[in-house]
Amino acid sequence: MADQADFNARYGRWAIVAGASEGLGAAYAAELAVHGLNLVLIARRDELLHSLAFELSRKYGVETRTFTLDLSAADAAEQIAQTTGALAIGLLVYNAAFSAIGPFLERSLDDHFREIHTNIHTPFKLIYLLGQRMLAQGYGGVVLMSSLSAFQGSAYISTYAATKAFNIVLAEGLWEEWREQGVDVLVCVSGAVKTPNYAASEPEQTGGLGDMTMAPDQVVREALDALGKQPYVIPGRMNRVASFVMRHLLPRKSAVKFKGGILRRMYVEHK
Ligand SMILES: NC(=O)c1ccc[n+]([C@@H]2O[C@H](COP(=O)([O-])OP(=O)(O)OC[C@H]3O[C@@H](n4cnc5c(N)ncnc54)[C@H](OP(=O)(O)O)[C@@H]3O)[C@@H](O)[C@H]2O)c1
Repeated sequence: MADQADFNARYGRWAIVAGASEGLGAAYAAELAVHGLNLVLIARRDELLHSLAFELSRKYGVETRTFTLDLSAADAAEQIAQTTGALAIGLLVYNAAFSAIGPFLERSLDDHFREIHTNIHTPFKLIYLLGQRMLAQGYGGVVLMSSLSAFQGSAYISTYAATKAFNIVLAEGLWEEWREQGVDVLVCVSGAVKTPNYAASEPEQTGGLGDMTMAPDQVVREALDALGKQPYVIPGRMNRVASFVMRHLLPRKSAVKFKGGILRRMYVEHK
């Protein structure tokens, strides 16, 4: 990551972490606090948010605000833009996501739309609203979380993977549009990460590929290191190798079948 003075010059004084109460989101908040950024922490679980905010203020002397909000709500982005209107927001990390795992038709339409709202609508509108402020102030950054499952169709998490593909393509386009106007955009295309949410999905290990799961703080460090240098990052050497094979060596049809086999073993056959 850039040194602190450079980081503050590029991303100002305040960062929003949307989906901050645990796991990767909490790790983003902690790493940004180390770099002296004040934080707006957003999630649904109030108590977790408050204790994280208290801990980060105490440890790093940063200011914190907490905002208890369901990011799948239709007006979530507007609420955030309004609540943070008086703060000079220089960085948006959109980390929250919803993944409805299982055969496509065994999940309700509501679940699929919750994925689309949480993973696409809200970050899209937030980027639109906060992007206007960032371009006007001439500095800023946006980090979106995506997944290796977005590089090809991914059976049993088809909608989730498609929402994450949207995030990759959006971030890359905006990186190119905004990079010369002082606003950095990055999408972090992550493999499996040891978060409470990942553990709660009860994967049958990694479907036979060995344990490639990463620690949240490792992923966050690689993401923030890449911010301002490139449009996307794949944290972890093994993940970069695996994604190279999947995208450039295997025919796409084989990649889709291979990924589907892994996900079937992880989430369907052992249930
Ligand atoms: N973990 C992995 O293996 C993995 C792999 C690839 C990509 N990713 C991506 O990394 C990101 C985070 O990973 P994770 O799922 O493991 O979670 P995490 O960062 O450990 O936790 C998700 C955070 O988002 C919040 N959140 C979720 N839905 C929300 C909603 N509707 N409204 C408000 N806050 C919400 C949760 O808080 P509350 O529950 O308190 O609201 C929590 O703080 C996601 O974008 C995911 O797609 C993860």
